[in-house]
Amino acid sequence: MKIGIIGAGQLGQMLGHAARDLGVECQFIDPSDSPPAGDCGDVIQRPFDDAAALAELAATCDVITYEFENVPVEALHQIGGNVPVFPPADALRHAQDRLDEKRLFEQLDIPLPGYRAIDSREDMIAAVDALGLPVVIKTRRLGYDGKGQFVIKDRSDIDAAWIELGGTALIAEQWVAFDYEVSCIGVRNSDGDIAIYPLSHNIHEGGILRISRSPVDNPALAEKAEGYMRRMLSHLDYVGVLALELFVSGEDLLANEFAPRVHNSGHWTIEGSNTSQFENHLRAVMNRPLGSTASVDHAGMINLIGEIPDAARTLDSGFLHDYGKDARPGRKLGHITVTADTAERRDELVDTISRSVT
Ligand SMILES: Nc1ncnc2c1ncn2[C@@H]1O[C@H](COP(=O)(O)OP(=O)(O)O)[C@@H](O)[C@H]1O
Ligand SMILES: [Mg+2]
Repeated sequence: MKIGIIGAGQLGQMLGHAARDLGVECQFIDPSDSPPAGDCGDVIQRPFDDAAALAELAATCDVITYEFENVPVEALHQIGGNVPVFPPADALRHAQDRLDEKRLFEQLDIPLPGYRAIDSREDMIAAVDALGLPVVIKTRRLGYDGKGQFVIKDRSDIDAAWIELGGTALIAEQWVAFDYEVSCIGVRNSDGDIAIYPLSHNIHEGGILRISRSPVDNPALAEKAEGYMRRMLSHLDYVGVLALELFVSGEDLLANEFAPRVHNSGHWTIEGSNTSQFENHLRAVMNRPLGSTASVDHAGMINLIGEIPDAARTLDSGFLHDYGKDARPGRKLGHITVTADTAERRDELVDTISRSVT
């Protein structure tokens, strides 16, 4: 069995490590020099939409998957006739356009913040009038880690928002004064078996995930999120891991966005779950039985962004994952996972470590 993976970044690397444990071979496509997943299999160093590279992957692999969202949908269609490609191209198409994504949530009766499509300066003004302030303007495509976003707090910010983002397709979204953010990570195989991880509580700084903790002690929220996840997985005839990001406001959940791939807020599953999200993604795309998504402990994850300080290499407890990437401001270079038998102890560890590495 050989799995083709489009993208050889840290998610590809963690998929590659899970594949090695399952005795499965991987081959990647990635244009960058020495990408993180280079230690897990052969990398075809070509652009993600290179027809010859995709054909080579399709010819040598039994199934193809991807580790990031900006794979051109056409590339998946190009190989889809010859070898199975999961998650399905339709899920990727929805995830690539925030407007399509929101319409999908509406279609599935999943609550979400108010929003408007914006194609002109007049639309932006009309959106502010309709939604009230603050609103966040987001590019419909290609945003990540909070990039391509502008928060309008006052009407006088409209010009600056238009100067920064105008000219591309945009949406405006009501700013949610959430209590906290969670993500729900689910997985489905081709037989239709579904498994769902306990919720993660996520803290973002400057639009980038900084800390995740799981499980979240709120069974009512977990049940709601699980219902939304099941609806999405079934509707999309989904195969693989799917991550759904949500805002918590009292007992309500509002969907923010979803990712058709393994997700940063699920990295704790490597040490903190019976089966990691990476192993379960591989099991799903190979249509094998899914592994248990039960937690083994209370887990916490701290992202290492911009640099991996020496303190991260000399921890008394915790597991350091160094992706082997060159340091650059704002770049995710690694993470630390901690596990503990109580939530209090886990929180203490997260606080101590995050103070020592930031
Ligand atoms: N409508 C909103 N209300 C409040 N906070 C928001 C809103 N949209 C985004 N954010 C904040 O910005 C973060 C990144 O935005 P998100 O839409 O998830 O984009 P990205 O694709 O960059 O992850 C969110 O996790 C949240 O903290
Ligand atoms: Mg997000």
